[in-house]
Amino acid sequence: MAFDFSGRIVLVTGAASGIGLAIARRFLDAGATVVATDIDEAALQAVQVEASAAERWVARRLDAGSGADIAEGMAWVESRFGTLDALINNAGLARLESIAELSEDAIDLQFNVLLKGPMLAARAAMPMLERSGGAIVNIASIAAVIQAAGHACYSACKAGLVKFTHDLVKEHPKVRSNVILPGFIDTPILRAYGEGEALEQIKRDLAGHIPLRRLGRADDIAGATLYLCSEHAAYVSGAELVVDGGVISTTLENM
Ligand SMILES: NC(=O)c1ccc[n+]([C@@H]2O[C@H](COP(=O)([O-])OP(=O)(O)OC[C@H]3O[C@@H](n4cnc5c(N)ncnc54)[C@H](O)[C@@H]3O)[C@@H](O)[C@H]2O)c1
Repeated sequence: MAFDFSGRIVLVTGAASGIGLAIARRFLDAGATVVATDIDEAALQAVQVEASAAERWVARRLDAGSGADIAEGMAWVESRFGTLDALINNAGLARLESIAELSEDAIDLQFNVLLKGPMLAARAAMPMLERSGGAIVNIASIAAVIQAAGHACYSACKAGLVKFTHDLVKEHPKVRSNVILPGFIDTPILRAYGEGEALEQIKRDLAGHIPLRRLGRADDIAGATLYLCSEHAAYVSGAELVVDGGVISTTLENM
């Protein structure tokens, strides 16, 4: 599917790594001006883009869990560009803990980045998105709909993000808001499961349980994101797009 986002302004949170970086690169390749934001400024500055596209790549530090940072970042976008065509709420992290182990700090951190931040970013971006007829894509997770050990807080935040997406559609119908539920995608976030050869073994085991027999690639989620922001999805709003190689279907099959 060919995408053309020439002249469009897109803001991606968590754009220095993994899925966010793949999304930001795909938008850049499709002609957009990309405001690539992340809390990890060094990683963001280390991202190399083609010289011919460099003036459309705007890297900015933004803590997606901070209301002050979000407000300041959106005000900057408005003053710099006067508009925004797409907001991609992608920033994330995972702290695997059983409910018995859950610490208040881990709850606050995950809640702030995974749910509060997307809510505040959507609120702050909405006036620009309503004027441009733009789109929001929230990156949730299949954790929102399956039980995964140690994911209680993460899952609850992601389930909240799925629900919030529907409220965005109800209260702001001019902006198409959709949510993607990725499955197991091979990015640095999987280090929450382990390191080195132990992690590689976990990935092989996971792949064996996925109907498509491989982990997802960050670009699998990027393609879905561009589709949802494009004219090909002009009538798609409030969709929950599962991109998981079939994991959810297998889970149901085994129940
Ligand atoms: N990889 C998977 O298997 C998977 C599955 C389902 C959902 N997701 C979701 O996809 C999104 C991207 O994850 P990923 O797999 O690319 O992980 P990743 O670790 O590769 O990238 C996450 C990025 O978010 C950034 N980030 C973390 N906290 C931030 C903050 N407060 N403000 C701004 N940026 C912040 C990190 O610096 C990093 O660059 C996350 O929301 C994650 O929950 C990932």
